[in-house]
Amino acid sequence: MDASNLPKLEIKNAYLHNQKAYKPTASFVKKANVKQWNAFREKANKDPLAYWEKAAKDLFWYMPWQKVFDDSEKPFYKWFVDGKTNIVANCLDRHIGTEVENKTAIIWESDSGLKRKLTYKQLFYEVNKLANGLKQLRIGKGDRVAIYLQNIPEAAIAMLACAKIGAIHSVTYAGFAASALRKRIDDEGAKILITSDVGYRRDKELDMKHIVDEALQGNRTVQNVIVVQHGKKPVNMKKNRDVFYEALVQPQPKYCDTEMMDAEDPLFILFNSGTVERPKATVHVHGGYAVGVNQSFKLAFDIKDTDVFWSTADPGWITGHSYTIYAPLMAGITTIMYEGVPDFPRPDKIWRLINKYGVTILYTAPTFIRALMAQGDKWVKPELLKSLRLLGSVGEPINPEAWKWYYTKVGRKKCPIIDTWWQTETGSFMIAPQPTMPLKPGSATMAMPGIEAAVVDKKGRKMPVNKSGFLVIKKPWPSMMRTIWGEPQRFKELYFEPIPGYYFTGDLAVRDKDGYLWMQGRTDDVLKIAGHRIGTAEIEAAVTAHKSVAEAAVIGKPHKIKGESAKAFVVLKDGFSPDEKLEKDIKKTIRKQLGPIAVTDEIEFVKGLPKTRSGKVMRRLLKDHEAGKPLKNTTGLTERH
Ligand code: WTA
Repeated sequence: MDASNLPKLEIKNAYLHNQKAYKPTASFVKKANVKQWNAFREKANKDPLAYWEKAAKDLFWYMPWQKVFDDSEKPFYKWFVDGKTNIVANCLDRHIGTEVENKTAIIWESDSGLKRKLTYKQLFYEVNKLANGLKQLRIGKGDRVAIYLQNIPEAAIAMLACAKIGAIHSVTYAGFAASALRKRIDDEGAKILITSDVGYRRDKELDMKHIVDEALQGNRTVQNVIVVQHGKKPVNMKKNRDVFYEALVQPQPKYCDTEMMDAEDPLFILFNSGTVERPKATVHVHGGYAVGVNQSFKLAFDIKDTDVFWSTADPGWITGHSYTIYAPLMAGITTIMYEGVPDFPRPDKIWRLINKYGVTILYTAPTFIRALMAQGDKWVKPELLKSLRLLGSVGEPINPEAWKWYYTKVGRKKCPIIDTWWQTETGSFMIAPQPTMPLKPGSATMAMPGIEAAVVDKKGRKMPVNKSGFLVIKKPWPSMMRTIWGEPQRFKELYFEPIPGYYFTGDLAVRDKDGYLWMQGRTDDVLKIAGHRIGTAEIEAAVTAHKSVAEAAVIGKPHKIKGESAKAFVVLKDGFSPDEKLEKDIKKTIRKQLGPIAVTDEIEFVKGLPKTRSGKVMRRLLKDHEAGKPLKNTTGLTERH
């Protein structure tokens, strides 16, 4: 990417960064792990290497590192050089023989009504057995294992079993079509694929094995397919290739040595992609990744031993890797895995589950929050929410209206909202509040301790307060991706060349006078109206400020005079119907929030927005739609945008 092609940024009117701050409640602060968030942050930022070294000491290492950080081969940075560990030693082994072993590690439920619970000890045995099974199939250190499973315990078991023996897992979201799965398997050269016969989502049964068979046509690397029997129907098994999970695992011994890994040995590959590019095979490693994920989790979510944590993310996304599975297990707490969609069959399903399992922390995406909000407050019964003490958000900018709803209705004004900005590439949270700091609805607040973020112009110069610019991370951090699998040059070009010296996030942001950051959306989606550059999030936040709007997506359209004009696609809340008066009224709201520049010339009322399977709005498809192409089914398309 050439920096000269990056847009010149300027924003005149801002709705987002004018929100007032919310202080944490006294009772939350009293019990918080870190009360003096500012002092903690200042200390960390004074000496980030010392901070990360201390964080690393919170984990188990077979052998300590010789050096915390090595930048001799920029941008291929190394952390905890020569240190030996294994993330599974931290997720499981070290809990065995302690009181954690009898604690519930995973609670699983599916929207088809199935349930399962695993203690740490049971999970440890399950992982060991599958690890032995994989060894029997001649899988070892450095081999790639493809995983194509829904959010079921076997997904976690498979990831952990791979890591345990040093194999590299690569999970593909089970909603993806055969072509997307094939591409990933071919790129990584997987030797084994772990899947299930079927998966459940709402009242649908997905025929996953069928998709796998199609994806493997013509493939030369996959030697065996391990099939979890999740449904009841007979399944087509290919002779000499396919083996049932139970048949493989059942006879295996309950113990398996954990492979001692170098801190820099790859742990997993995870594909993600932007608007225009081919998918990128992000590589994460055992050492630094574990340190970043563990530290960020404990700090941002104020983790206690008694927490029951529910991240609604699927294991096919980075959030599913880092915070549904690895972080809670490293912390020795209970994690919830839910197969399907927790607003089915009724919108209150999620709240009933929170009550049933005593969930203390809920971590979900703005798109889901907005969907719940649109269904009306009557579903959100306070008596079901008593166990909650903290709420998280991830994946997209959370608009202030959704933030306030989440805070008031779900959090009952007691739970801090931890809006976490990060990426597949960053491995762990980069910008997120510490829970005792004042929060502003719609802002992910500041860089986490030990992380240095900035809003800059294309030459890397700091932007003035309230001016939109490129979000960069100025210094390397332990959980950063190490490369793109098989494409080191592309890794350099995409992330370190657009703005030399810094990690380029591809996002736009604004820093306000208090130093809070406001995400404005992806640079690819930026609009230029009458010479003013404006991020999509900024206009969308203003549109959703209108009481009738559940969700909105904004795109730029060519305009004779202004260069570009904004068009908003609007989904209305239950009980509102589109008409001219409402359209005028929404435009008035936008004008009030943003000034005349960003007034959307056109509003189209739609029933839903095209989204990736991880819930991000695909503005690119809306642009296609605008150009006359029909809105197509998004299954199998890229997951970012
Ligand atoms: C967006 C998900 C605003 C952003 C963890 C980023 C967000 C991309 C937030 C990464 C947030 C994620 N506020 N925007 N809290 N979290 N994003 O790789 O554009 O699926 O670059 O990682 O999502 O998406 P990814």
